[in-house]
Amino acid sequence: MMGVTILAIESSCDDTSAAVIRDGYVLSNLIAGQEVHRSWGGVVPELASRAHQANIVPVVDRAIKDAGVNIEDINAVAFTRGPGLLGSLLVGTSFAKGFALARDIPLIEVNHLQAHVLAHFIKKNENAGGIPEFPFLCLLVSGGHTRIILLKSHLEMETIGNTIDDAAGEAFDKCGKLMGLPYPAGPAIDKLASEGSGKAFAFSKPVVAGLDFSFSGLKTSFLYFLRDRLKEDPDFIEKNKPDLCASLQHTIVKILLDKLIRASLSTGVKEIGIAGGVSANSGLRDEVAREGKKRNWNVFIPEISLTTDNAAMIGITGYFKYLGNDFADQDIAPLARM
Ligand code: KG4
Ligand code: ZN
Repeated sequence: MMGVTILAIESSCDDTSAAVIRDGYVLSNLIAGQEVHRSWGGVVPELASRAHQANIVPVVDRAIKDAGVNIEDINAVAFTRGPGLLGSLLVGTSFAKGFALARDIPLIEVNHLQAHVLAHFIKKNENAGGIPEFPFLCLLVSGGHTRIILLKSHLEMETIGNTIDDAAGEAFDKCGKLMGLPYPAGPAIDKLASEGSGKAFAFSKPVVAGLDFSFSGLKTSFLYFLRDRLKEDPDFIEKNKPDLCASLQHTIVKILLDKLIRASLSTGVKEIGIAGGVSANSGLRDEVAREGKKRNWNVFIPEISLTTDNAAMIGITGYFKYLGNDFADQDIAPLARM
């Protein structure tokens, strides 16, 4: 007896991704990044949607081939409805609709944020790490979002903390840009930070009530700090890049951890995970693991390939929705905000 096989499409930002999921296991997960944005210092929406159009057919084709399944075996197609860039979302949505129509199979809409969190529920072989139990507390940190989410079941999520301005990923990317690093700067900062000291420079941390976050002040204080130091020494950035990166990363990680600890204490939940692009950050991964040990948390740190945007997470979300017969109509439209 063949299981439930889902083709999943992700196109919310600047990565075109397709995956095939069977019964919650990933058979393939292909990602085509877009180099076109690099020289612009950020994602250019119009260029992104054009690149998605060029990538989507070959990426889906490859994902189906790599999975070793026949097109007839696919039971449903899941796609990212939002949030994201509208032009980018349109490409994935249109493709998914066409595929569902042509194959006469159900269409499943997926919320991108929910998918980042549900990446933790992708089934693995027995010797890989376990799967969280409910209630599960997840710190979702990406280029567009910074939230603390409380999951009561796969599809019941409550945002209990949110950023009031920039996302953590934006703080990495914008501060990186100030140091002359190419977009997205997060991975480069992570790498440089490993050669520097997190205590070399101190940047002010925001004071925000409850479980909410703020990152725009950090960006401003980083900007003024660099401006002052560059006046004394025009080579200040070049001479101090590892220390600057390590100190910046240390500050961002500290801000995130403070709120995550607070969220665990206020909810009593010790089943804790991190998700989203910034959860690839080695400083954050180390610190969550360290706090977890100290506080008796059951910590879930995603595989690197499941941290940044990918279709496997759309597929696992689609799988849970499939089991609940939660299907979308052909007239569904993507949403930039959800
Ligand atoms: O989840 P994601 O791929 O896309 C969004 O949904 O936004 O996250 C992208 C973000 C970017 O801001 C990028 O700089 C950041 O994740 N990022 C990292 C690392 N890898 C990716 N930030 C810090 N350290 C990393 N290793
Ligand atoms: Zn994302």
